[in-house]
Amino acid sequence: MSDNTFAKDIHKGLTAPLKHISSKYFYDDIGSGIFQDIMKMPEYYPTPCEFEILSLQGDQIINKLDFEKPFNIVEFGAGDGTKTRQLLKKLTERNIDFTYVPIDISKKAIGELKAGMYQQLPGLKIEPMIGNYFSMMEELSHSAIPALYLFLGGNIGNYEKPEVDNLLGDFKKSMRPGDQLLIGFDLQKNPATIRCAYDDPKGITKAFNINLLHRINRELGGNFNTSQFDFYSHYNPLNGEVRSYLVSLVPQKVHIAQMDRCYDFERNELIWTELSKKYTINEINQAAETNGFRVIGHFLDCKHYFTDSLWQI
Ligand code: TRP
Repeated sequence: MSDNTFAKDIHKGLTAPLKHISSKYFYDDIGSGIFQDIMKMPEYYPTPCEFEILSLQGDQIINKLDFEKPFNIVEFGAGDGTKTRQLLKKLTERNIDFTYVPIDISKKAIGELKAGMYQQLPGLKIEPMIGNYFSMMEELSHSAIPALYLFLGGNIGNYEKPEVDNLLGDFKKSMRPGDQLLIGFDLQKNPATIRCAYDDPKGITKAFNINLLHRINRELGGNFNTSQFDFYSHYNPLNGEVRSYLVSLVPQKVHIAQMDRCYDFERNELIWTELSKKYTINEINQAAETNGFRVIGHFLDCKHYFTDSLWQI
């Protein structure tokens, strides 16, 4: 991604009526490191729940797959592959013929993923693609090999409703009849459990959000004084939405060299950083139906906190 896109998005976000910074900018090298720490927090349940699903229900998921010939497993936003490996391992043990195609925008992430996979699953056929989802989907839509698409980790929860429909529409366009999609959704649960996962007492989540300001300082020559910003996160159990914000603690002006201008913040003004929507099974079924998918099955962890749902077109 060029600096220019980052600069443009930041300028647009900091001049909007409700200031915002897109959550895709969390994941520079430092942010990705902090996210690894979030995933290790006892309060952050999504990662172990999905790990459990893919470890313990691999056989049930595989039994619902509908491929007669060798197929691709195409993963969007593969991360470090620990969770996915549980499923790939089961497939390998059952001598099923497939090729793993992880897609990520970070060359570094793909390199590490590949090394880890080779070490743990030496026989795995792996053909990574580096690029953004949308150009890769276009490319894949011309492939004659059937595919299981993976969109795990509750990524879908970070999109607003219209974007969810666009994204699912894009998936559908690149899929052929018989292709399947395994997609993760974080489920609605006791609101206190969700609140703790998104605002931990040690301040790791705060550091993750504050890193956005450090990143602007580093890459765009900003002069954010990060001690003058706080972090606030709110879960609304009525609509299942966690929304996270940075809060300006004082009236202040911040200069960003790359834009050659200042941005004004009022006392208690918010910068919205992320939506993390929690779903009900009904809402998931609805989303599948309105976007032209058939739900084959929901695979939940034992606490019913999370689901990986298998869809088909
Ligand atoms: N996308 C992740 C999620 O929705 C990232 C995340 C975890 C996050 N905790 C956060 C983003 C707190 C903002 C604030 O779970």
